[in-house]
Order: sequence, then C-alpha cells, then structure tokens
Amino acid sequence: MSNNVIILAGGQGKRMKTNMPKVLCNVLGEPMLEWVLTACERAELDDICVVKGFEGEQVDKYLKSRNSDSSIITVMQEERLGTGHAVMMAEQFLREHEDGNTLVLCGDAPFIDEDTINGALELHKEKGCSVTVVTSRVENPTGYGRVIRGEDGLAGIVEHKDCTPAQLAITEINSGCYWFRTSDLLEVLFEIKPDNAQGEYYLTDCVELLINKGKTADAFVSENPNVALGANDRRGLLTLNDIARFEIIGKWLDEGIEFTCTDGVIIGNNVTIGRGTRIDSGVNLRGNTVIGEDCIIGNNCIIENTKVGSGVNLNNVQAYESVIEDNVKIGPYVQLRPNSHILKGAKIGDFVEIKNSTIGEGTAVAHLTYIGDSDVGANVNFGCGVVTVNYDGDKKFRTVIEDNAFIGCNTNLIAPVKIGKGAYTAAGSTITKDVPADALAIERGKAAIKENYAKKKLEKRTKKFEDSHKK
Ligand code: UD1
Ligand code: CA
Repeated sequence: MSNNVIILAGGQGKRMKTNMPKVLCNVLGEPMLEWVLTACERAELDDICVVKGFEGEQVDKYLKSRNSDSSIITVMQEERLGTGHAVMMAEQFLREHEDGNTLVLCGDAPFIDEDTINGALELHKEKGCSVTVVTSRVENPTGYGRVIRGEDGLAGIVEHKDCTPAQLAITEINSGCYWFRTSDLLEVLFEIKPDNAQGEYYLTDCVELLINKGKTADAFVSENPNVALGANDRRGLLTLNDIARFEIIGKWLDEGIEFTCTDGVIIGNNVTIGRGTRIDSGVNLRGNTVIGEDCIIGNNCIIENTKVGSGVNLNNVQAYESVIEDNVKIGPYVQLRPNSHILKGAKIGDFVEIKNSTIGEGTAVAHLTYIGDSDVGANVNFGCGVVTVNYDGDKKFRTVIEDNAFIGCNTNLIAPVKIGKGAYTAAGSTITKDVPADALAIERGKAAIKENYAKKKLEKRTKKFEDSHKK
C-alpha cells in the first residue's frame, strides 16, 4: 500500500503582481512549492502529482530543474473551478494508486512539515479513517474553512463564506491538508456540486459525503502553528519570509549553533550546519549547502549549494556549487565560482577568484589572484597577482601546477601549460611553455640599464621650463 500526494498548484496569485504561478513565489529563496516538496520528501511519501494551472509550463520547468529522484508527474487544470475540481484533474493518478492513501496539500502553504504529515497518517490508519483533515487552532480564523466536530471525530468543514454566525466563531480551521483513503475519495469526488457561496467544487464537501456514507472521518490538530499559513500579496509573502527566517535560526540554535547577531542572516530550508559552528551577521546559506562542525562563517558570506568541511574559517566569501574541505581558511573578499574544490588546509587570501579548479592540500593563494580551469597540487605557493590565462577569446584551456611549485608574483600562466613539481616561475613572467620539475622559468624582457639617461632627460626638462618663464 502506497502513500502518495497531490499538490494543488494552480493559483495565479494576482495580488503578487507577477506573471509566475503563485507557488513559484519564493520564501527564503526557494519557491513555496519547493518547501512543500521538501516536506513530502522528508516524510518519505511515494509518488507525487502536482496539479498546475496558471502558467503551468513554468511549474514543469521548475520541477525539471530540481535535483531529486522523487517521482513527480504534473496534470493540468485548465479552468480554476475549485479545490475539488483540481483534485478531479488527478483522476488517473488516483486510479493508478487506488490501493493506498492520498495526501492532498496546498502548494501555496509552505510550512507543512513531515511531523504533521506522518502524525496525521498515523491517526488516519489507526482509526481506519476514510479522511483525516489536518487542522490548526488559530487566533484569527478569517477566510479559512471551519472545522465542525461531531460526537466522535469530524462532522464537516464549512467555508468562511458559507458559515452561520455561530460557525464563524469556531477557531479550529481546515489547514487544506488531508489524508484520504484513495478508493473512498474516488467514490465521492465526482459527486460534489458547486452549490455554494463561491460556485466552486469544494474538496471539503468530500468530507461530508464520506460521513453520510457512514465512513469514518477525523481531524488531526497540528502542533505546527504555521501549518496553514499562506500569502496573498507581497506583504504577506514578506511575513512568511520573516517567520521562516526565525523558525530556521531557532532550530539551529537548538542544535548548538552560535549566532552572534541575526541581522541579515538567512539560512535556507535545505541547509545543514554542524555543531560548534558560529554564524556571523549577514550570512546567507542557500540551496543544499552543508556546513561542518566548528566552523566560523564570518560576516556577509554567501554560500550556495556548497559542501564545507569542519574547522573551516570563512570571511566575506561567496561560494557557489563548490567543495571546501576541513581546516581551510578563506577570505576576506573571495569568490569561489562553480566547481571549485579546495582541499584540506589550503589558505585563500584576499581578493582571489577561483573557478572550476582544484586547489591542493596546504596550498596558499594569498592575494589578488585568478585561478580558472586549473589543477593545482599540494603545498603550492602563489605570489601576489597571479593570473591563469585560461581563455583565448574562443576556447578555454587548463593549467596544471604540480606539488610544491612556487609561482612568483604577477605571473601569467598562458594555458594550456604545466608547471612541474617543485618548479619556480620568476616574478612578472608570462609563462607560455611547460616548465619541468624543479626548474626555474623566467619569461620576461631582459633587464637593460642606461646609465645617466634619466638625469639628462631631467636636465633638458628643467631648462625648457626655465626658458619659458624668462620670456
Ligand atoms: C481552502 C479550503 C479551506 C481551507 C483553506 C486553507 C476548500 C473549498 N477550502 O480554501 O477550507 O481552510 O484552503 O488554506 O478547499 N487551487 C487550484 N485550483 C483551483 C482552486 C484552488 O489549484 O481551482 C489551489 C490553489 O492554488 C491553492 C489551493 O488549491 O494552492 C487552495 O486553494 P485556495 O483558493 O487558496 O483555497 P481556499 O479558498 O483558501
Ligand atoms: Ca487559501
């Protein structure tokens, strides 16, 4: 028996004033849909069906771009006729997964969590329910469907616009998340009618239809106070960002992470941080970034989809799609562009850019250097101002620098080129030929000293100046 999920993602979100589907609006840099998918993946659900609508191809494009091995299909809802109608669009998915349970989630309620999903499923199975509604007790229930409790379990859900004054006072609300026994959902789904205040097919009507058929329905009260939260406009979206930001920082505080000041600190939903690590102000950790133990992530670092080892010290570093091994020290003002791999104990100093390169163990790149498309060995020393000249305007070439080499200040390495083990390059050289191991390469103009040349020039200039003033 499988546990599958349908995510409703058809909304436009007109008041967001964007041409994107609402579910692609970001919270902490990830689309709301991504938050929902993450919760499904953490809950280890089986197959996923996303119901798209407005600008549906953007949803497909997003799903294609994500890095995951989840089984996800999409179906199209051409006309927005209500949540029940949206689920009808997934009929084939439901029939293919008839033997099992189906979770229905709103793609624009990003804070659904795996404990709620699994807690509700447990209750659903334990009680043999046809439907288990996830509910939340809130101070202001305006706009939400109200949960009507019966003697045993659930009696129904009434939409805000259809409520009697007494029902309006109910503060237990429908989060928009439900577990259905799939075969039972199929039995009633096509019986719902749009005979209500909004003229829509309400998915919530399935609950009453099931109860009328003598099936069991229950409500699971989520401990997550934000479970039903969504946003209708940019102000609401900013509020979701603020909530998410402090929830995540709070979670990491509980895990022993030290924060000196949370101003500007944004930690993405899929980031992990090891114990003993300190995060300073302005730090932005994005995507699937992993930070090891006992690191110092200093001010203003932006780290995206990067794996950072333990004991690493970063200061004003931007790193994208890269790997930084244990005990590396980087910064200030360094950019690691995609596919950079900094091995153990390396030191990268100020104003250095590294791209698509490996920097070997213990190697030092102290200042003002560009290393692109290069394979650098261990214990190499870069003088100030080295440039790997990797691009001739047409093609890119690699530079190879072997262990213990010493690259003099202001060396240009014209790729493709190889510097052998322990070799030296003289400062200011533009190296165009491979340098064998242990050799010194000098490739620069010969020194020429012209005695008294400058003195004569100065005398001439001074005389000219004096003559012009005599006139
Ligand atoms: C729904 C519930 C309500 C609950 C609330 C929680 C119904 C009838 N009501 O109300 O009880 O308290 O969610 O937020 O279900 N969608 C589509 N196609 C449609 C309509 C909706 O894909 O035709 C999607 C939306 O994009 C959204 C989700 O379904 O992701 C919920 O729709 P929304 O219009 O927000 O439902 P509510 O009226 O708020
Ligand atoms: Ca809603």
